[in-house]
Amino acid sequence: MSIRSHFEFDKLRAIGRIVRRALDTAAAAVRPGITTAELENIGARVLAERGAEPAPPKTYGFPGALCISVNDEAIHGIPGQRVIEAGDLVKLDLAAEKDGFYADAAVTVQVGEADATALRLVRCAESAFARGAAVATAGNRVAEIGRAVEGETRRRGFRVIRELCGHGVGRAIHEPPNVPNYHDPRSRTRLTEGLVITIEPIVTAGRGQGVLDPDGWTIRTADGSLSAHFEHTLVITRAAPIILTAP
Ligand code: CO
Repeated sequence: MSIRSHFEFDKLRAIGRIVRRALDTAAAAVRPGITTAELENIGARVLAERGAEPAPPKTYGFPGALCISVNDEAIHGIPGQRVIEAGDLVKLDLAAEKDGFYADAAVTVQVGEADATALRLVRCAESAFARGAAVATAGNRVAEIGRAVEGETRRRGFRVIRELCGHGVGRAIHEPPNVPNYHDPRSRTRLTEGLVITIEPIVTAGRGQGVLDPDGWTIRTADGSLSAHFEHTLVITRAAPIILTAP
């Protein structure tokens, strides 16, 4: 969507804050021995207490309140009886709706003992996000975000999973435009003031290909390599974007 009024901005800001709170609460609970279903319940409770609803079940029939993907699972992991272990890389991705407005954010949590590559991968996803956000200015092409994201990822020795991208958001979980994590020279779409999008690098230590798991939802890396994900919902302005899901 593109924001046209203070009312719309306030509603988006409200759901952005709720998503942040739910995500942070779930992320803080990540520890060895907890199941992904328990993490899901923690996030879902925060949403319910604030009158918000998880978006993926409503929109897509996804079997969970949030997506929880571990290690080689890149996105859309289904919460369940999987027990988190020390050394796991846990991606929490949460999209929610309140009063017809949507926000979407993701973080990657490294559990316990830090594996050096895993930590570098987490930092890479965060840094690639920041580079993308730095060029997300009204008048610039959407494609410049992808150029910045992929450039930073490669500089750090990793690859984006090209099939997975950011997107417009606001009145639905997924809206135009697509926001690829690589430079698409054919894409001439420009960012406009008030446009609401996500930027979400999904990076991997391997070759950068994703495959759909037999569960029909989870996308994991084809080569079994680790992956990390970092995402915010933001509003395009003539200066720096406004991050609606910021802490
Ligand atoms: Co998203």
